[in-house]
Amino acid sequence: MDIFSITGAAYLVAALLFILSLAGLSRHESAKSGLTYGMVGMAVALVATIATVIDVSEYVDDRGLVIALMLAAVAIGAVIGLWRARIVEMTGMPELIALLHSFVGLAAVAIGWNGHILGSHEGMPSLVNIHEAEVAIGIFIGAVTFTGSIVANLKLSAKMKSAPLMLPGKNLINIGSLVLFAVLTAVYVSLDTHDNATADVLLGVLTLLALALGWHLVASIGGGDMPVVVSMLNSYSGWAAAASGFLLGNDLLIVTGALVGSSGAYLSYIMCKAMNRSFISVIAGGFGIEAPSGDDKDYGEHREIQADAAAELLAGAKSVVITPGYGMAVAQAQYPVADLTAKLRARGVEVRFGIHPVAGRLPGHMNVLLAEAKLPYDIVLEMDEINDDFPETDVVLVIGANDTVNPAASEDPSSPIAGMPVLEVWNARDVIVFKRSMAAGYAGVQNPLFFRENTQMLFGDAKDKVEEIVRHLDD
Ligand code: TAP
Repeated sequence: MDIFSITGAAYLVAALLFILSLAGLSRHESAKSGLTYGMVGMAVALVATIATVIDVSEYVDDRGLVIALMLAAVAIGAVIGLWRARIVEMTGMPELIALLHSFVGLAAVAIGWNGHILGSHEGMPSLVNIHEAEVAIGIFIGAVTFTGSIVANLKLSAKMKSAPLMLPGKNLINIGSLVLFAVLTAVYVSLDTHDNATADVLLGVLTLLALALGWHLVASIGGGDMPVVVSMLNSYSGWAAAASGFLLGNDLLIVTGALVGSSGAYLSYIMCKAMNRSFISVIAGGFGIEAPSGDDKDYGEHREIQADAAAELLAGAKSVVITPGYGMAVAQAQYPVADLTAKLRARGVEVRFGIHPVAGRLPGHMNVLLAEAKLPYDIVLEMDEINDDFPETDVVLVIGANDTVNPAASEDPSSPIAGMPVLEVWNARDVIVFKRSMAAGYAGVQNPLFFRENTQMLFGDAKDKVEEIVRHLDD
C-alpha cells in the first residue's frame, strides 16, 4: 500500500473522530470524551501528514532540510500551545481563542499567496481558473479572519475600547468592499497569465482590502455583541481552513474546515437568538445598528450597604437568588459563594442561582465556576427558568454581574443593549449588587438598576465581601 492510501484512510478516521468530538462537546456530561476524541483525531491527522511529507520529500534535493523545518515548526507550535494553555485563566479564554483564529486566517493568506506564486499544475484552462478563484477567495477569507480576530483579541483583553466604531457610511464601506472583492477576483481569474506584476498587484490590493474589511467589521461591533463575534470568527476560520484545503488538495482540511465553519455559524445563530440580536446584522459588522445616543441621563443617587447589614437581610430572608457575572470569575468568589449558600440552606433559606446565557466571558463560564465549587446542579437555573420567580424572591445577590441584569435592555429602546434578554432582578424585594465601583460593565453602558429604590451597592472585591458576610452569619 502506498503512503497516499494510508494517509487517506487516516484522514477518514480523523474526520470521524472530529465529528464525534463535536457531538460530545454539545453536552456537559460528554464534553470530556468529546475533547479526547478531538485530541486523538488531531494526533492521527498530524502523524499522517508528517509521514506523507517525509515520504514525498524523497523527491526534493534538500530532504534533510525540509524534514528538519517541518519538525521544528511542529515542536515550536507544540511548546507555545502547551505553555499558553497551561497559564491561561478561564477569564482570558475568549481572547486566546480569538488569537488562535487569527493564526488560521494568517495561514490561509500564506497558503493562498503560495498557490499564486507556484501557479496551477492543472492542464485544463477551466481547472486553472478554479485554482485562481480558490487563491483569491482563500486569501480574502483568511485576511478578514486575521485582522478581525486581532481586533476581537484587543477588545476582549481591554487593549482597545469595546464601544463600536461608527465610521460614517459604515454599511456602504462593507458592501462596497464586497463588491470590490468580487470585481478584483473576476479580473484576477480572467488574466491570461499570473506570472506577472499585474497579477501580483491585483492580489496585493485584494489582500489589503480584506485586511481592512476584517478590521472594520469587528471594530464596528459593540462589547455586548462580542460573544457572537468570537463564534462568528470561529466560523470564518473554518471556512478559511476549508479554502486552504481546496488549494492544497487536502481532503481532511476541507472536511475539518467545513465542520468548524458550519458549527461556528450555527453557534453564532443560537447565541444571536439568546441575545435577541439579528444574525445578519452581527455577521455583517453591526449592519443597521445606529450609533447609541450618549448616556448622560441623571439616574439620581445610589444607596450603599455593608456586609453586616447584608448578612442580617439574608438571615431574615425566605428565598434568595444569586446572579453571578464576570466579576465573580475575576474575584474567584465561587468558593465563598458556595459556603454562603450552604450556610443559608442550613438555616432553611431557599437559595437558587440564575444564570444568564452570556454571563461572564464565554458560554457556560458561570456553570463551570459553580461546578468547580461543588454547588448542586439542581439549584442552578437558566435565565428563562428563574425570571418569573423574582417577584416572589426576598433578596437577590448580584455578584459581579452588570450588563446581564441591566433593566435598560428591556426598558430603553435607545440603549446599545436594547432587546437583549436580561435577568429581571429588579422585581425582587431587595437587590444587593457586589462590585468595586460604579463603573460600567463590558458593554460600556450605565446600569439604572444601581439607582433603584430596592437596590443597595456593596462595594469591594466580591470574594472579600462574601467572606465577610459568611463571618457575620457565623457570629
Ligand atoms: P459585565 O457586564 O462585564 O460586568 C462585570 C462586573 O463585575 C463589572 O461591573 C465590574 O464592576 C465587576 N467586577 C469586576 N471585578 C470584580 C471583583 N473583583 N469584585 C467584584 N466585582 C467585580 O459582566 P456580565 O454581567 O457577566 O455580562 C457579560 C458581558 O460580557 C455581556 O455584555 C456580554 O455580552 C459580554 N461578553 C460575553 C461573552 C460570553 S460568550 N459570555 C464574551 C464576551 C463578552 P467593577 O469594575 O466596578 O468592580
